[in-house]
Amino acid sequence: MGVLILDNEKIYLREISFSDTDNIIKWRNSLYVKQNFIYQKDLTREEHESWIKTKVKCGKVKQFIIIEKGNNNPIGSVYLRDIDYNNSKAEFGIFIGEKTALNKGYGTIATNMITKYGFNQLGLNKIFLRVFENNVHAIRSYEKSNFIQEGLFKQDVCIDKKFYNIIFMSIFKNGDSND
Ligand SMILES: CC(C)(COP(=O)(O)OP(=O)(O)OC[C@H]1O[C@@H](n2cnc3c(N)ncnc32)[C@H](O)[C@@H]1OP(=O)(O)O)[C@@H](O)C(=O)NCCC(=O)NCCS
Repeated sequence: MGVLILDNEKIYLREISFSDTDNIIKWRNSLYVKQNFIYQKDLTREEHESWIKTKVKCGKVKQFIIIEKGNNNPIGSVYLRDIDYNNSKAEFGIFIGEKTALNKGYGTIATNMITKYGFNQLGLNKIFLRVFENNVHAIRSYEKSNFIQEGLFKQDVCIDKKFYNIIFMSIFKNGDSND
């Protein structure tokens, strides 16, 4: 089977492979990305390889590398995790590790691409995410992608003895969250 590619004018998404491991570790452990993730410990090569083997290879996670067109540079990753076909839902995640690629609209485009893929190709009904309340950059991008706030979890995550609020956002296949 060939490598799945999702195409757009400015970026494309290519299915992750073991050869992306160095980039993933570099991006995921960069301060800018790490400080915005709920799991704040450094990601080890072993943990990432185990994630690929036990989650990606068996379809529990669909993960892509985001590639900037023109220069063909890999800049980050976007994924749907814990895909739950019984309830037709999955959790969304994204990070752009190359700082020069931030604020160019790529995060929003990649989000739109993978949610469309989740609804149309995987048959999902709901895609949700969890984000720190103070991550205004990511929240702005998610709002542009039509995620709506579904809940606020107060003092939900503890880092260095400080508690942080988490916003839970979702997007639905039919675009209507009032059902
Ligand atoms: C979240 C992320 C993928 C967004 O990617 P991006 O390509 O920079 O996002 P976009 O360019 O599509 O959109 C960013 C929007 O946020 C705005 N923005 C950027 N910094 C901001 C800030 N400090 N305050 C408010 N808005 C901000 C931008 O102006 C833009 O909105 P606009 O188009 O209305 O001007 C990227 O910031 C990232 O990888 N962050 C680190 C990891 C992370 O936070 N992951 C999510 C964890 S839940």
